[in-house]
Amino acid sequence: MFALLPALALLAVSASAQNTSSTVTERDIEGLEANFKQAQLVPQLISDFEPEALLSVSFGGQAISIGDKLDKDAVASSPELTVSPAPDHDLDAGALYTVLMADANAVGTDQNVTEQTRHWLVNGVSLSGDTAPYTVNYTGATTITDYAGPGPFEGTGSHRYVIAVYEQGSDFAAPANLSTSGVALGTWFLSGYVSESKLGDLLTANYFQVENGQATSTAEATTSVDSATLAAAASTTGASGSAASGASATSGSASGASGAGTSATSAAASASGSSGAGAASGAGKTGVAAGMIMGAVGVVGAVVGAAL
Ligand SMILES: *[C@@H]1O[C@H](CO)[C@@H](O)[C@H](O)[C@H]1NC(C)=O
Ligand SMILES: *[C@@H]1O[C@H](CO)[C@@H](O)[C@H](O)[C@H]1NC(C)=O
Ligand SMILES: *[C@@H]1O[C@H](CO)[C@@H](O)[C@H](O)[C@H]1NC(C)=O
Ligand SMILES: *[C@@H]1O[C@H](CO)[C@@H](O)[C@H](O)[C@H]1NC(C)=O
Repeated sequence: MFALLPALALLAVSASAQNTSSTVTERDIEGLEANFKQAQLVPQLISDFEPEALLSVSFGGQAISIGDKLDKDAVASSPELTVSPAPDHDLDAGALYTVLMADANAVGTDQNVTEQTRHWLVNGVSLSGDTAPYTVNYTGATTITDYAGPGPFEGTGSHRYVIAVYEQGSDFAAPANLSTSGVALGTWFLSGYVSESKLGDLLTANYFQVENGQATSTAEATTSVDSATLAAAASTTGASGSAASGASATSGSASGASGAGTSATSAAASASGSSGAGAASGAGKTGVAAGMIMGAVGVVGAVVGAAL
């Protein structure tokens, strides 16, 4: 019903100057890939990422750019998500997807050793609309873990929150302890979940960053990287990228709000403590501190916001 026909894609491209939000180019897809590599999310967290679409993430109607550094208050409630397929990709009508958000902690964290924090997990979502961007539709979906806004521990660096949309084929089978609603925020290995539950391809993803206070590592810095390093990106608009890095400077120094953030995380940790996940989470935080020195180069707030 909403499959994107090639003819529609061509129409969309020709209208791009007026309506970039519904138009995806190859450059956008390459930019998404580059950002995930630059942020050390690929291959560290996601071994293989060939996006077939862009994921627009909006909090309170405000769309983020990939890698934006945001205040935790701005991301306390679940975002609105839309999906816009790449020019050469159709989306199957009636297909189901899994939406999740995972905290990959600061750059330098060993994702094989430190579990990610599961902040959101919804199985069986669909995509609605006659044309891109398609709206993520939760009718008939199962929310395993309700969206829980970021609350990183103080001094643990700039956490990377990845929102991912996986294809959920007919052989998908939720693990027994993640198959019904109401499972509290906890930690897990994202890659373990994906393989165990037989999720399909990662359709698309996006990420943002939240930091609580000053990192205990001296070298912590979040830098904007000019995606001119992408051959195809040479002629793009850099305006949204600059805006994003300006915003990150502002929100990154907001250390006053640490109390609320810490308590949110602590509450979450104790909620999952009964299953043993809390202990793993504690170990993870220690790992973060050690890893941050390696991650001092920082994460991108790059320049690929045009279609987001
Ligand atoms: C842009 O695309 C959206 C979604 O398809 C549509 O609702 C909107 O009317 C379009 N705006 C313009 C100016 O074409
Ligand atoms: C993490 O595990 C994967 C798969 O076992 C492996 O390919 C990768 O090299 C590991 N990464 C690190 C940093 O050890
Ligand atoms: C979401 O999906 C349901 C079931 O397919 C449909 O009835 C509803 O109109 C959709 N919502 C939107 C906003 O498209
Ligand atoms: C679910 O069970 C697996 C073992 O199959 C365990 O590793 C994991 O921590 C459990 N997750 C939760 C949320 O209890």
